[in-house]
Amino acid sequence: MMIISSMLLVFVTVLFMLLLIRQFRKCGSSPDHHHQKLPPGPARLPIIGHLHLINDLPHRTFQKLSAQHGSLMYLQLGCIPTLVVSSSDMARDIFKNHDLVFSGRPVLYAAKRLTYNCSTLSFAPYGDYWRQMRKIVMLELLSSRRVRGFQAIRSRELKVFLDSIAVTSANSSSVNLSEMTLLLSNKIVSKIAFGKKMHEDDDKNIGKFHEMLRETQELLGGFCVADFFPWLGWINKFNGLDRRIQKNLRELDDFFNTVINEHRDSSSYNNKHEEQEEDEDLVDVLVRLQKDLNQPISITDGQIKGVLMDIFVAGTDTSSATLVWIMAELIRNPDSMKKAQEEVRKVAKRKQMVEEEDLGSLKYLKSVVKETLRLHPPAPLLVPRETRDVCRIKGFEIPAKTRVFVNAKSIGTEAKEWQNPEEFKPERFPKSSVDCGYGGQFEMLPFGAGRRGCPGINFAMPMVELALANLLHLFDWKLPSGMKSEELDMEEAFGITMHKKSHLCVIPCPPY
Ligand code: HEM
Repeated sequence: MMIISSMLLVFVTVLFMLLLIRQFRKCGSSPDHHHQKLPPGPARLPIIGHLHLINDLPHRTFQKLSAQHGSLMYLQLGCIPTLVVSSSDMARDIFKNHDLVFSGRPVLYAAKRLTYNCSTLSFAPYGDYWRQMRKIVMLELLSSRRVRGFQAIRSRELKVFLDSIAVTSANSSSVNLSEMTLLLSNKIVSKIAFGKKMHEDDDKNIGKFHEMLRETQELLGGFCVADFFPWLGWINKFNGLDRRIQKNLRELDDFFNTVINEHRDSSSYNNKHEEQEEDEDLVDVLVRLQKDLNQPISITDGQIKGVLMDIFVAGTDTSSATLVWIMAELIRNPDSMKKAQEEVRKVAKRKQMVEEEDLGSLKYLKSVVKETLRLHPPAPLLVPRETRDVCRIKGFEIPAKTRVFVNAKSIGTEAKEWQNPEEFKPERFPKSSVDCGYGGQFEMLPFGAGRRGCPGINFAMPMVELALANLLHLFDWKLPSGMKSEELDMEEAFGITMHKKSHLCVIPCPPY
């Protein structure tokens, strides 16, 4: 009996090893690829391909490798054929001539499980659902009219934020702008999404919700072996990842269910009272569209939750990271700080707060924002794309289902397009017509481009510009402990959003 079970064990182990070897062999040595003229790339190792080259700042690694191998570079990351795009010329070619082929998104392990089976706009595969949902999001949730309607919420939350900085300013102590700006954007987005159903004492609930979102962001931005060797997904049952994902999803789901049900109850109440559409928050809109039989798709609860997740995951961290990078750059560049403050104070005059209607006059401030997005795009590799078909670019053949990283950091600092590219110089903008990549220009792409470009730009910009204008209007800024401006470190921390690694702690002082 013992002998038979030992033999069985040996047999199963050998079979398992053979299967493993077969899978690994399949990785990176697909016979089709040998006949293709792939873009150049570094020499690769057996089995893992180029995975060993990836560290915790992949956009920096890709930038260095592309300098040697070209702005269209081919890598094999585990089993995954990967293309890295690092110049504005290549980006122009892709987004102008092959946008449809490049409009897919890869199915990533944590994302698939956390986004209601890819119901978010950001992770949905290209197709009918994505097209219809994107139309709904653009027309109903993030249109200029809707975003303008949320002006009062932005001003109210901003005032609370500025008041708390003023208290610190009176004590001459420092504020943690990294934490405070994240809280600000979280609160603005929560009030806009959940709106009037969130009572003042629900701040505690919002706090708990944002704890959950932090975990979601960590899970979405973390390394997962199954994203490079999909058949190794079973490992996540043993390394704790599946457990973390399930716990996070359960908690988020409970929260979303409560919010949606509350909105449903009060929307049937409000129907009787003919609530105006302008008073709706984002959940109201989604619940109304779900009931509307004339919509081209029937929206499920999972899809409502997916869209809400998008608004939070894509919309809060990115805006606060941008504000922190801007303030850090201005503190390191006192001349730019002075110029921006003079402009804001001239426009705002003796007003207590800069208002949204003032933003149009703040040309230099807008250049400061653009210059920061050029140097510190919050999503330096955008959101990964996947080719939907074979495609030929500059004589190279790109296979279908290739994962694509567009390196916005490399593109924004390309020596061919930008003079002294690493220098922070907002003055470069009024002379050049370059915009943020959305109007068919490709010299900087902080919001991506093409069909899958960011739909939240009109939502993000007023929030970032208004907060910045008021931080500059109401306070002067000093570094603590006599630190010199050039000593401020600008190290990056990679994740789903690229933050400044160490928190930005600064002392606000009364300006006059
Ligand atoms: C400074 C702020 C922001 C930056 C820098 C930013 C950047 C980006 C980038 C680079 C992408 C990928 C684009 C591509 O693949 O070409 C993206 C996608 C997306 N962003 Fe933003 N974003 C910001 C704010 C927002 C806000 C406020 C929202 C919503 C309220 C939002 C919603 C989305 C969504 C839904 C997608 C996925 C679009 C799709 O796949 O169709 N973003 N964003």
